[in-house]
Amino acid sequence: MNAIIKPKMGLCILGIESSCDDTAAAVISDGVLLSNCVANQEVHEKFGGVVPELASRAHLQNIIPVVDLALSKAGIAKDKISAIAFTSGPGLLGSLLVGTSFAKGFAQALSVPLIEVHHLQAHILVHFIKSAGKDYNPPSFPFLCLLVSGGHTQIVLVKDYLKMEVIGKTIDDAAGEAFDKSAKIMGLPYPGGPFIDKLAKEGDKDRFSFSKPRIAGLNFSFSGLKTSFLYFLKDEMAKDPGFIERNKADLAASLQKTIVEILLSKLKKAVIETGVQEIALAGGVSANLGLRSALLDEGMKRHWRIHIPEFSYTTDNAAMIAITGYYKFQNREFSDMSVVPRARMEI
Ligand code: KG4
Ligand code: ZN
Repeated sequence: MNAIIKPKMGLCILGIESSCDDTAAAVISDGVLLSNCVANQEVHEKFGGVVPELASRAHLQNIIPVVDLALSKAGIAKDKISAIAFTSGPGLLGSLLVGTSFAKGFAQALSVPLIEVHHLQAHILVHFIKSAGKDYNPPSFPFLCLLVSGGHTQIVLVKDYLKMEVIGKTIDDAAGEAFDKSAKIMGLPYPGGPFIDKLAKEGDKDRFSFSKPRIAGLNFSFSGLKTSFLYFLKDEMAKDPGFIERNKADLAASLQKTIVEILLSKLKKAVIETGVQEIALAGGVSANLGLRSALLDEGMKRHWRIHIPEFSYTTDNAAMIAITGYYKFQNREFSDMSVVPRARMEI
């Protein structure tokens, strides 16, 4: 496509996110967020997890209304859009296809550049979103980002906006999966992470202890924790069928404490190995109150500079896609109409 880069009052990026079960659109003008809209898909709740076919169908229904809402909330007419940024992966292929196809069609109709965005890079760049009336205190480069979501758990060395290196990652489940799968074992709704977080506030985090992995280097593992949690509960429920119900707050608090300790022990190691003491948190699990406060405490103790994202930027959103598009636009990193979504892609 021969896109025209129109001179505009501001560099206005429309971001579109559809990698999993949230259909989201946002507008960022000159790095300042003007709107951030999301349509959550409740259809998956009764299945205890995201059903890919249902997700694609819901994205199809939601995408036009969500984009329309984002533009109207931003007070931006279509012809003021400078470029369209969209998530090209990683994620569910059918879901990604909806956002990709919409972005391609809209970019072609408006004759503006198309920018593909890596979903995980975008989670990290939330720290560079400016909001009117709010302090802007972004991390300085290089920094380490603990990226914890439903599908990924990584420690990323961020050298510049678009220069990132994964220095540690999970070899099996992600931290979000550890929360969600353990919550499911306890009979909590999907996704269970926020429910564990809420219950944990009332519980005793030292009441139960669960096994922690011994993995070399900066990699993580969470599948052993889930298994030990499952067998512990099976044994206790065999003795007392009311065990989970009566102990759910203590179980949640103890589980959360274990996940947080696993995450922070590798982060401490990464700080020692890299010498980088500027630390950011990102991804859906960064909404977790236990993780946020443990990281702040650790930072205070060790004189790290800590950057905690706003709650609205933790789980999947399109503001993160738009801000990544903003930096890619400045680097002139555009895609053409042959771009295709990919379920798996490295940072
Ligand atoms: O980043 P995200 O929205 O989607 C992915 O890219 O995966 O992350 C979703 C994950 C889910 O596993 C969800 O349970 C978890 O983030 N999550 C939380 C909390 N809020 C969301 N986990 C623990 N505590 C929370 N408060
Ligand atoms: Zn995500």
